[in-house]
Formats: sequence, C-alpha cells, structure tokens
Amino acid sequence: MQIIIFDNTQDVAEHAALWVKELMLKKPGAVLGLATGSTPISLYQQLVSNHKAGLLSFKHTTTFNLDEYLGIAPNNSQSYRHFMNSNLFDHVDIDKNNTFLPTCNTGENPRVQGLAYEEKIKQAGGIDLQILGIGANGHIGFNEPTSSLASRTRIKTLTQQTLTDNARLFNADEFQPTLAMTMGIATILDAKYVLLMATGENKAQAVKDMVAGAVSAMCPASALQMHENTIVLLDKAAASQLADQEYYHWANDQNTKINQEFGLYHNY
Ligand code: GLP
Repeated sequence: MQIIIFDNTQDVAEHAALWVKELMLKKPGAVLGLATGSTPISLYQQLVSNHKAGLLSFKHTTTFNLDEYLGIAPNNSQSYRHFMNSNLFDHVDIDKNNTFLPTCNTGENPRVQGLAYEEKIKQAGGIDLQILGIGANGHIGFNEPTSSLASRTRIKTLTQQTLTDNARLFNADEFQPTLAMTMGIATILDAKYVLLMATGENKAQAVKDMVAGAVSAMCPASALQMHENTIVLLDKAAASQLADQEYYHWANDQNTKINQEFGLYHNY
C-alpha cells in the first residue's frame, strides 16, 4: 500500500484526479471502477472541470460502480445511478450505455445478476482503476464486516452501523434500503489499481485497521493489504490514528521522484 497523507480534503481530491487523468490519457478505453458516498464527490468535481476545460474525454471510457441499493428505481434520487448521473455522467461526454451498476430489479434473481455483473466486467477487460471510499466500520463497497475475502458480486444485508451512518442522506419520510448489490472483495482485488480515498476523523479507526491491522473479514478494507497496487489518499484527520506517519511522508517523497520520472503507473 502506498499511503499518502495530505493537509486537507481538497488536496486528496486533486491528487485522486491526477491518478484518474493520467490513466485516461494513457489508455483512452480505460475501465474505471467507481464509488458513491460523499468522499469521491470532490474527485468527480475535479474530473468534470477537467472535462469542461477540454483536458479530459470520457468518450471511450467504460465504468462499473461498486454497488447499488435494492428496491430503489434508477430515477429515484437515492439510487446510486442517480448519484452517478448527477455527480459525473451528466456533465461529461461518456456514453451512458457504457456505465454499469450492479442492479437487481424486482423479480430478478440476485445470484444470477451478480454472476452477470462479474461476466460483464470480464468482457470489458477488467477494471484498470477502482476508486474506493471506506465505511466507518471498514467496509468497501457494501462489503460489510464478516464479508468473505473471496466474495464476488452479490446481495448484502447492510449493518445497523452503516444504516445509521447513511441515514443522514435520507429524509425522514424516505425509504432507506437495507439491502444492496455490491461487488465482492475478490472483485475489487481483481482491479489492476485501487485508489482509496478517506477523509475526516470518523474514518481514522477504519483506516488504522485497514493499513496496520490484521487481514480480517472484520475489516473488509484490510484485504487491500493483499493487493499489489493500492494507493491510499488520506487527509490528516483520517490518518490521525496511524503510527509511523513520518515514514509514509518520507516514502512518498521517494515515490514522487520515481513518479515524476516514469509516471504514476508502471504498466500503462
Ligand atoms: C457507502 C458506500 C461506500 C462508501 C461509504 C462511505 O456505504 N457503499 O462505497 O465508501 O458509504 O461513504 P462516505 O464517503 O459518505 O463516508
């Protein structure tokens, strides 16, 4: 894992955008794995401004989102489809036919839908770069604690903590789903690169468990310790429980020199 600690959330977003941009410029047909939640919104804003400035095109980009609620129509403002349209897709030149979310409509078998999503990712050539946030309980996507580290796209029951954490996003009279379809942990680990963003003190414990805890289903993000190319972008608050911060800064100085000379990616 490359751990990079920034002074503030804006720097996290700007740096995340650099990674996405460099990949898209090097590989116009890149396959992006996308995330929802409040954390990546500032990254999407950066990408939209880059597009508006004529610096970035999504014409040949394919995207796969991590997760989607069950029992919510795509045009419902709480759906992750709606989130992606309003935060990114509606503002760039992407062909929406190339944007996918793991949906499961009423009457469809979630197991069949999960397998079909895995197959679609495979047919697209796999995910080049997966954007991730992290839940306060260490979840990635909606892989809640105790999720199998070998899991694939499937239906998950959300934990009470996640429901409480996300309740802020729902009005009192709105239906808050308790089930979701989500890529599995193994699906995420298949991505060639993973870029995880975490900001704010309420993520500090999860970040500590992910980076320095045991690899455990109790902290699904800790599975990223087994991934070859994971970059973790943190603000100071999210990094506040990490020991060895000096080491991360020093290592990042060395990596920055290599990146300046050879680029961020070693296989694109
Ligand atoms: C949701 C999403 C996750 C996201 C997490 C954290 O549960 N399924 O993909 O990482 O929330 O969200 P936020 O960035 O709003 O803290």
